[in-house]
Amino acid sequence: MKISVIGAGYVGLTTAACLAQVGHDVFCSESDLEKLAKLEAGVMPLFEPHLEDVINSVRKAGRLCFGSTEEAIAWGEAIFICVGTPPLANGDADLSAIEEVARMIAKHASGYRLVIEKSTVPVQTGGQLQKHLSVHSKNGLSYDVASNPEFLREGSSVQDFLHPDRIVIGVDSPRAEGLLRQIYEPIIHQMFTCPIHANCPQRSQPVFLATDTNSAELIKHASNSFLAMKISFINMVANLCEVVGADVTKVAQGMGLDPRIGAAFLNPGIGFGGFCFPKDVQAFIRIAEKSGCDFSLLREVEKINQHRVEHFIEKIRKELWVVRGKKIAVWGLAFKPNTDDVRFAPSIAIVKALLAEGSVIRAYDPEAVEKARVLLPDVTYCADAYQAAEGADAIVVLTEWDEFRKLDWTRLATLVERPLIIDGRNALPPQELAAHGFHYIGIGGVAATPEAVQSLARATA
Ligand code: UDX
Repeated sequence: MKISVIGAGYVGLTTAACLAQVGHDVFCSESDLEKLAKLEAGVMPLFEPHLEDVINSVRKAGRLCFGSTEEAIAWGEAIFICVGTPPLANGDADLSAIEEVARMIAKHASGYRLVIEKSTVPVQTGGQLQKHLSVHSKNGLSYDVASNPEFLREGSSVQDFLHPDRIVIGVDSPRAEGLLRQIYEPIIHQMFTCPIHANCPQRSQPVFLATDTNSAELIKHASNSFLAMKISFINMVANLCEVVGADVTKVAQGMGLDPRIGAAFLNPGIGFGGFCFPKDVQAFIRIAEKSGCDFSLLREVEKINQHRVEHFIEKIRKELWVVRGKKIAVWGLAFKPNTDDVRFAPSIAIVKALLAEGSVIRAYDPEAVEKARVLLPDVTYCADAYQAAEGADAIVVLTEWDEFRKLDWTRLATLVERPLIIDGRNALPPQELAAHGFHYIGIGGVAATPEAVQSLARATA
């Protein structure tokens, strides 16, 4: 099918590339002309594993083009709206980009269009879109509006798009449902050349759930808010573990053995960030409260998450005593590993707070330095973790990149001013670090010291 995708961000680019990968002819538009020029020149505006390879191969096959929104509206019968819906100051989702696209569709579309909300939008946005299109459209324009929320995780979005657990659509007409089933046919039956796995394991077929638009919109906000709640829950338990002398990783392990709880999303740390959880929880609370519902549970989820930054800074103060003038090595700036995205990342808030207290920061991140530099100009950016650690009074781990687990601890010990590691993601091996002379402090009662390791060694000798 000819398909249009409006918006070339993390969601739009992944959607356009993957729909082309499974055989559709896709036109992707971007209103930011600088970004559009980069894309047309084959330069990626963001990092997402496998995405660049997929885009290059489908462009070579002539199944993906980039251009203007007007061209996109003219191209495909099905139009995926993948524009940003950032939070307003009061927490509402800013839908101005969605409204702008709706107005352009009404103005430029010639013939039936299926307008598909892929962006995360508050419930009842579909109804607003429907009304807007009818008010602004030229007479005779026929269209349907559908919801098709994305469940992509940054760092694995190509995998998540091509091998989803579920595909959710919200439709109010058989025609819309038929078109979406046709679009997703290759993914429902997993019939395509997988760009990730050479011999792609026979993946279970995703569940294709068709419901009404409001329910589909709610599934997205409710899912993200539930996952965020799970993270705040384990962070709350981690604080108690630190006080009573328990180990939160063991508590989480024990909890996760219950299939009703599950082990995923029980990793305590400095909190959730990114362009989804923080804004989706806020938007969900706002929608509910405007509808007269009490969502104070989610307000607590938000409060716990916001407090993670201060709680972590407190850990650093406790170890360094005076933060002013201290050299702190920061490992990791992205809001999670395998992405360059730093939006709403707790790491950014932590570095800003440490700079405000007068510390000197040397930072390293495998992918996010360019995006972090814009937000944190007063930081010295280093080429690798070792360089960041030179002369450090403390190393703080803010993103659990896999490469941080494989460093040469003996070499590291020669570089630092003080062998102290404060791990905001419980990413590193405590005993191994302590055996190399480091004082390791993690989250939720996870800790190790050289003295403890030595006395254990003597006791077991
Ligand atoms: C999330 C949802 O997972 C995805 O389904 C939705 O489509 C978009 O939002 P994403 O924001 O890309 O995806 O990242 P995710 O892996 O969910 O992590 C979000 C944040 O939670 C990160 O800051 C991560 O560090 C944090 N997190 C995650 C934890 O602190 N603990 C965990 O156990 C898991």
